[in-house]
Amino acid sequence: MSSVGEILYLSRHDVEKLSISMKEVIQVVEEAFREKAKGRTEAPPKPGIHPRKDAFVHAMPAYIPRMRSAGVKWVSGFPENPRHGLPYISGLLILNNLETGFPICVMDCTWITAKRTGAATAIAAKHLARPDSKILGILGCGVQGRSNVEALATVYNNLEEVKAYDIDAENLHRYVEEMTARHGLRVVPAASPRKAVENCDIVVTAGPILKRPQPVIEASWFNEGAFACPLDFDSYWKPETMHSMDKFCTDDREQLMYYKKLGYFSNIPRVYADLSEIVSGRKPSRENSDERIMSMNLGLAIEDMSTAILIYEKAKKTGVGKTLPL
Ligand SMILES: NC(=O)c1ccc[n+]([C@@H]2O[C@H](COP(=O)([O-])OP(=O)(O)OC[C@H]3O[C@@H](n4cnc5c(N)ncnc54)[C@H](O)[C@@H]3O)[C@@H](O)[C@H]2O)c1
Repeated sequence: MSSVGEILYLSRHDVEKLSISMKEVIQVVEEAFREKAKGRTEAPPKPGIHPRKDAFVHAMPAYIPRMRSAGVKWVSGFPENPRHGLPYISGLLILNNLETGFPICVMDCTWITAKRTGAATAIAAKHLARPDSKILGILGCGVQGRSNVEALATVYNNLEEVKAYDIDAENLHRYVEEMTARHGLRVVPAASPRKAVENCDIVVTAGPILKRPQPVIEASWFNEGAFACPLDFDSYWKPETMHSMDKFCTDDREQLMYYKKLGYFSNIPRVYADLSEIVSGRKPSRENSDERIMSMNLGLAIEDMSTAILIYEKAKKTGVGKTLPL
């Protein structure tokens, strides 16, 4: 069979066993943002279907010519899944051959989604948080709560403490034990969202995305000079808190505006810059140690496709995965 007639299938386990480091993911994702700044990427805002309340299945296509990566991620988030012992996020990613358009690889996308989202937070923080940031607040101690600490610890050697909050006491307990052992940081359970936000240098919120949110985070809880990265859209942050930021950034303006049209983000500030403008230096990043900055990161397909090509190439080189006929 000719090579365009077959695909490499990579299961979740195959992807994990390649042991690609967070540092490598951060490098390729940052490179993808630099390419985006030069107008050399293609990634239309992600459309979705919504089979259940607050659930989504998103289609996320992207093409990054310089990385020779083209493909689509088809990713689901079903908030009820954890109640049935299933992860919230699941899905597949397809890579395409650039000359023929044929699919060349199908891989599970849960590892990618966890790692590239953490990497995007770390890249945003590297440019927008204070370099001496030591205290991190995590609200929502699931997959993202874990990968975001891993990524931030990769770029911030001086991190000392994580204040962690979760509505589920058992999840919180497991998280505190696991993250303490894994990162050697002081991980402190917070009794309320307020306790997880106050006195932090960096705050990441990673609870569920709600179309009609009932946000709780007040402007007065958020420190002068702090940086925030919501991964759950505006579900956790009161509009007045977002409006109190000195700089309000996002990973992609076009996608944020697309979601606004769909009925999300009813009351958000004007966008100062997107991450490609920040990473490329086209727009000033943090300008002093007092600025309060937020980067509303919705998740971009260039993050997935830059990481996916790394996975594909390493799998080919090391003989991981199963070849299947088309
Ligand atoms: N922006 C992006 O690029 C991006 C990428 C992936 C996931 N996400 C979003 O990140 C969020 C977390 O995803 P995940 O895969 O880590 O899910 P997960 O199910 O693994 O973890 C979610 C955690 O949040 C907890 N939780 C639920 N409601 C909460 C609340 N009100 N306050 C605090 N904790 C709460 C749950 O108990 C659970 O421990 C989701 O909203 C998901 O859509 C965003």
